[in-house]
Amino acid sequence: MSTSIPGEPWSTGVARDDEGALVVAGVPAARLAAEVGTPAYVLDEADLRARAAGYRRAFAAAFAEVGAGVDVYYAGKAFLSVAVARWVHDEGLRVDTASGGELAVALRAGVPGADLGLHGNNKSDDELALALEHGVGRIIVDSLVEIERLAALVRARGGAPAPVMVRVTTGVHAGGHEYISTAHEDQKFGLSVAAHGDGDSPAMTALLAVLSHPELHLLGIHSHIGSQILDPSGFEVAARVVLALRAALAERTGVLVDEVDLGGGYGIAYLPGDVALDPDRIAKDVAASVAAAAAELGTPLPRFSIEPGRAIVGPAGLTLYTVGTVKPVRVDDETERLYVSVDGGMSDNIRPALYGARYHAEVVGRLSSAPSVLARVVGKHCESGDVVVHEVQLPGDVRAGDLLAVAATGAYGRSMASNYNLLTRPPVVAVRGGEVRTLLRRETVDDLLALDQG
Ligand SMILES: Cc1ncc(COP(=O)(O)O)c(C=O)c1O
Repeated sequence: MSTSIPGEPWSTGVARDDEGALVVAGVPAARLAAEVGTPAYVLDEADLRARAAGYRRAFAAAFAEVGAGVDVYYAGKAFLSVAVARWVHDEGLRVDTASGGELAVALRAGVPGADLGLHGNNKSDDELALALEHGVGRIIVDSLVEIERLAALVRARGGAPAPVMVRVTTGVHAGGHEYISTAHEDQKFGLSVAAHGDGDSPAMTALLAVLSHPELHLLGIHSHIGSQILDPSGFEVAARVVLALRAALAERTGVLVDEVDLGGGYGIAYLPGDVALDPDRIAKDVAASVAAAAAELGTPLPRFSIEPGRAIVGPAGLTLYTVGTVKPVRVDDETERLYVSVDGGMSDNIRPALYGARYHAEVVGRLSSAPSVLARVVGKHCESGDVVVHEVQLPGDVRAGDLLAVAATGAYGRSMASNYNLLTRPPVVAVRGGEVRTLLRRETVDDLLALDQG
C-alpha cells in the first residue's frame, strides 16, 4: 500500500502502527473515532507548539543578526481556541485577532491585552471599545473613517492614546509560487502606497491623519501580501516599499515610526512532495533584505513583526472522517473515478470549493494491499462542488466504515466551518503523549435548535 506517512504533509506526530493504522501522538485513529466520533479535527499539540517556537526562534535569530528586534504574532483567524491561544503564548508568540470574537477568546485564554493585535477592515465601535478597554497592544487601522472613529472613541473614554498601525497595500500580491507587483490595488484591505496625480498616497494620508490626532499613537506600518506564499521575494519587495514609506514619512514630519509588520502568508505542504517555506531560510532572506533597504534609505531599522497563522496550525491538524457511500463513476472511455463519500464535507472544509485548494487523503484504519485507484473524496452536502480532495490515489477496496484522514487541515478548516445543510460542526481535539483532550466539543442538533426562535 502506498502511504506518505510519516512525513509531510502530516504532522510530525503522525505514524502508522504494525497493522497499518494511523497513530497521532500515540493515539490510534480507531481510538479517536471511538472516543470523539467522526468527522473530527485532530490537532497534534507538540507539533503546533514546535512550529510556533520554530518561527519565533528563526526570526529572533535572523533579525538579531542584523540588529533588529522582532515579534511573532499568531494569526488567530487560522484557528483560535482558548487552549491554542495559551499554547502559542507559552511559546513566546503574541496573538493577532480579526474580530471581537477572536479577541474575546484570546482574552479568555489570559493573553494580556498588550500582547494582542486587532485587525479588520470594518471594525465595529464595540470591537474598538473592547480593544481599548483591554489595552490591546496595537489596533491596525484600515481606513480614514476608522481613524476618525477610533480617535473619537478615545476622546470620549479618556485615557492614554490608542496604539495604532496603519495597514498599507504595497502593490505586491503573493501566493503560490510567484508574486505580482501591480500599480494599484483593487481590493478592500489597507491603504495604497501608490499616489495618483499630485496628491499624497492614501497610505501617506492615513499616516498623517493618525499623527494629527493626539488620541492616537502611531506605532508603525503594517503590510500583509497574501497567503500560501512559497517564494520569499514578495516579502522582500513589500518590506522595501514599507521601509521607503516610513522614510518618506520621517522626511515629511520628522517622525520615524518604531515598528513594521510584514504580515503572514508563510506557505505549508498540503500534498506529499510539496516543499513548505523554511522559517530559517525566509527569516534570513527577509532580515538581510530589510537591512540592505534600511541602509540604502539611511534610516535605522525598526522593530519588526510577522503574523503567521497557517504555518503554525495548518500542518499540526488533520481531519478524521468515516467513509460511507463508494461509487465508481465513468469519466470517459478511459477513465473511471471512485467517488468516496465521507461524513463531513464543505461545511468542515470549504477551501477546496472556495479556492480550489488541494489536499491529500489516506485510508488510515487498516493496511490494504489492493491496487490503488483514482479517487475523489466528497462530502455529504447537497452541492456537487462539495469536494474534500479533488484527486487522490486510494486503495481500490476502500469501503464503507473505513477511516479516512485528510492532512494539513489545521488552518482555515474549523475557523471557516459552517452549518450548511444544518450539519453540526465537528469537534477539535488535541492529542499529546497518548492523551486526547477536547478543545471544542462537537455541536449537537440541540445547539442548532436552540438558536431557532420558532
Ligand atoms: C492581516 C493578516 N495577517 C496574517 C494573516 C495570516 O495568514 P496565514 O495564515 O496565511 O499566515 C492573514 C490572513 O489572511 C491576514 O489577513
